[in-house]
Amino acid sequence: MARNKHVGILTAGGDCPGLNAAIRSVGKAAMSCGMEVIGFRDGFRGLAENLRYPLDKTTLAGILTVGGTILGTGRDKPHRMDMAGEIRDMTDVIAENYHRNGLDALVCIGGGGTHKNVLRLIEKGLNIITLPKTIDNDLALTDASIGFDTALGIVTEVVDRLHSTAHSHHRIIVAEIMGNRAGWLALGAGLAGGADVILIPEIPYQVETVAAAIQRRRDHGTNFSIVAVAEGAMNVTDAAMYAAARQAKKDTKGTPANAAAKRALAAFNEHHDGNTLRLSKQLAELTKLETRVTILGYLQRGGTPSAADRLLATRLGTLCVELIQEKCFGMMVADRGGVAAPVPIAEVAGNLKLIPPDHAWVQSARSVGTCLGH
Ligand code: F6P
Repeated sequence: MARNKHVGILTAGGDCPGLNAAIRSVGKAAMSCGMEVIGFRDGFRGLAENLRYPLDKTTLAGILTVGGTILGTGRDKPHRMDMAGEIRDMTDVIAENYHRNGLDALVCIGGGGTHKNVLRLIEKGLNIITLPKTIDNDLALTDASIGFDTALGIVTEVVDRLHSTAHSHHRIIVAEIMGNRAGWLALGAGLAGGADVILIPEIPYQVETVAAAIQRRRDHGTNFSIVAVAEGAMNVTDAAMYAAARQAKKDTKGTPANAAAKRALAAFNEHHDGNTLRLSKQLAELTKLETRVTILGYLQRGGTPSAADRLLATRLGTLCVELIQEKCFGMMVADRGGVAAPVPIAEVAGNLKLIPPDHAWVQSARSVGTCLGH
């Protein structure tokens, strides 16, 4: 009798709403094709330490609407994993455990970091398919990523709610929104919530330009403003310093100067950490308006997934199982124009989807008079 196919599933990187919907979709579709499904806990660590999580009709039931991931997640890199205080390359151990569990395929649900990690495991001969998830929406070759729509809804509601309190107190409220390299969440929610200023990493800003926009509102009788700022947004000077520090790290790779370049980049990142507070103080000084900061933080990643994220996760998960049956590995199941389609993981890994300067959202923001800081 032919042996049933065995499929492993793990979730890696930061969590987001819709991960459980994706696990459920892959699990149920796989089981309905007679496959056995095994979950691995806490990202790649689960495979390195063989931490299995039973996935069956019972454990997959009732999770569609639940936030987070029943498997747990983590940011461990297979090639640099902290094993009881010692940093070890665990890629061979992961490959051994993949075979020990009799896996025919492994499904990794993750974001940018996960895709880079997966490439190393594909090089070890593992059959991997990925599903895109990130509230940052910055994965290449997919229109949407699981988690983004829910986060967009949460952040939009926050921007909405900040309006009434900013209006009542005649204040500037600076809201810090997740998104380190890409500003999709800040721009999308800023536009949907009618923020007066939206600052994103793709468009370095001049604080004077922002203050002047707020001042203009005041001149027209509006004494409050909402500033939606992505956590990775930078002023023009900082953006140039950051680009130089990243380039120096790249250029010195494999040379003795690399350690100093890494230290310089770490020092820059530390300096950037207080950016939103600094921006708020600068705006208070320049406009003479009272200013407050709201850091949205992990609220943006928590709770129930939206209907759109549940649908996306379910659509991508079922195509994933079809690809396993066709032995079409090394692919990410992407959302392309509303249709689930495989794209090569090699073309996703290391490629960020940033907001192009002429993107429709940028043009619309400018057309409705939103200040983008430059
Ligand atoms: O998942 C992406 C992201 O939400 C970024 O926007 C944010 O900077 C980061 O994760 C924070 O992740 P953590 O603190 O969980 O490592």
